[in-house]
Amino acid sequence: MAKVKTTFFCQNCGTQYAKWQGQCNACKEWNTIVEEVVQKPEKSDWKTPTSSIKRASKPLRINEIDSSKEARLDTLDAEFNRVLGGGIVPGSLTLLGGEPGIGKSTLLLQISLKLPYKTLYVSGEESQKQIKMRAERINPENQSCYILTETKTQNIFKQIEALEPDIVIIDSIQTLHSDYIESSSGSISQIKECTTELIKFAKETNTPVILIGHITKDGNIAGPKILEHMVDTVLQFEGDRNHVFRILRAQKNRFGSTHELGIYEMQGSGLREVSNPSEILISKKDDELSGNAIAATLEGMRPLMIEVQALVSTAVYGTPQRSATGFNAKRLNMLLAVLEKRAGFRLGAKDVFLNITGGISVDDPAIDLAVVAAILSSNEDEALQANFCFAAEVGLSGEIRPVQRVEQRILEAEKLGFSTIFVSKYNKISLKNTAIKIQLISKIEDLVDLIIT
Ligand code: TYD
Ligand code: MG
Repeated sequence: MAKVKTTFFCQNCGTQYAKWQGQCNACKEWNTIVEEVVQKPEKSDWKTPTSSIKRASKPLRINEIDSSKEARLDTLDAEFNRVLGGGIVPGSLTLLGGEPGIGKSTLLLQISLKLPYKTLYVSGEESQKQIKMRAERINPENQSCYILTETKTQNIFKQIEALEPDIVIIDSIQTLHSDYIESSSGSISQIKECTTELIKFAKETNTPVILIGHITKDGNIAGPKILEHMVDTVLQFEGDRNHVFRILRAQKNRFGSTHELGIYEMQGSGLREVSNPSEILISKKDDELSGNAIAATLEGMRPLMIEVQALVSTAVYGTPQRSATGFNAKRLNMLLAVLEKRAGFRLGAKDVFLNITGGISVDDPAIDLAVVAAILSSNEDEALQANFCFAAEVGLSGEIRPVQRVEQRILEAEKLGFSTIFVSKYNKISLKNTAIKIQLISKIEDLVDLIIT
């Protein structure tokens, strides 16, 4: 094979070097020097017969461009389709990131087994036998899913040419390597080169490619940041490994919204789609316990009822502890200060622990009111009525602020059989004749009067 010309560039300031070194002389940054291909041999590994005769593109008036909707590939997995914005776009590159063991390989293998198209699942991590064993746990019947264990991109392309799959899945991008670069698999330059080759393949043949990406210990996708810029969609698979729920979110999506959320439950036979999440996120119990409150939140377009648990107790050590799981700790401190200043609760000398059940984290501000209600309930050691739920933001002066799409939240709460929902007086609500009571409140004192006897 013809030799490729590579040089080393600093990823920070762009200075060029003949060989690798730890620190850049120009900008003094460490570990920023990376090998890059400057010239490849003429013959590319991925070349379609048409690509050589393709003319250079010319500018077109925007109204002349054909905008007819591209048919998306339906994955037969409602949660996955929703997060992608309605299915896989032909020719797109999707990157799925997540912690080790969270279920990335399981999710994509399961989708490959369900897909009614010819699918090629390339694994650089497991043997064909291991994958077969996993597939048998999930769904043993499938005629159109092919498994390849290979890490060299050139060989993968050869197999693709022979098989002509409708969709290609790569597990994982960090195990691939291209002959054009000498550095080991997983290095920044290898990841970049392999992704470039895959993008070229995807765009030229209109075949969608899904990549699995490892993440680093800070939660970013391992490899260059540019990887996320290069692909069309970045999905994140998250959840606490000790909990059974897994959440799929889009961090970037060129073909849809990034607000959508897919929820799965990890079972012995793979991941189960959770189409009605509110019912499982709320624990069913016979006794009413203090410190629990239900928030009517929205994740994307989907309403989600979430249980908030608080424990307020006298601090044994000098400095009171504040800890929050699934909720921003700074926001918790702010809400405690509001309760202290505006409602006169002395929480300064108390430990406060807060937990969002199900191991999920929420950024919807509408959860504030439920957090406050749970704290009050635990502080007074008085259980709230089990069929109360809350949806409002709490401001610094103790005012109860309106939240977006409140009617959708009210309807979800009504559907699930709640008797009363607490919302801001400033929300415009045009719902009539609801079975659920809509309790309008304007300041935090109103809440205290209504829930504490
Ligand atoms: P895996 O897909 O290998 O994770 P990743 O590719 O993200 O590293 O998932 C591994 C975990 O999922 C593993 O700990 C076992 C669990 N699992 C089940 O609980 N049920 C199943 O049917 C399968 C296949 C895996
Ligand atoms: Mg894996």
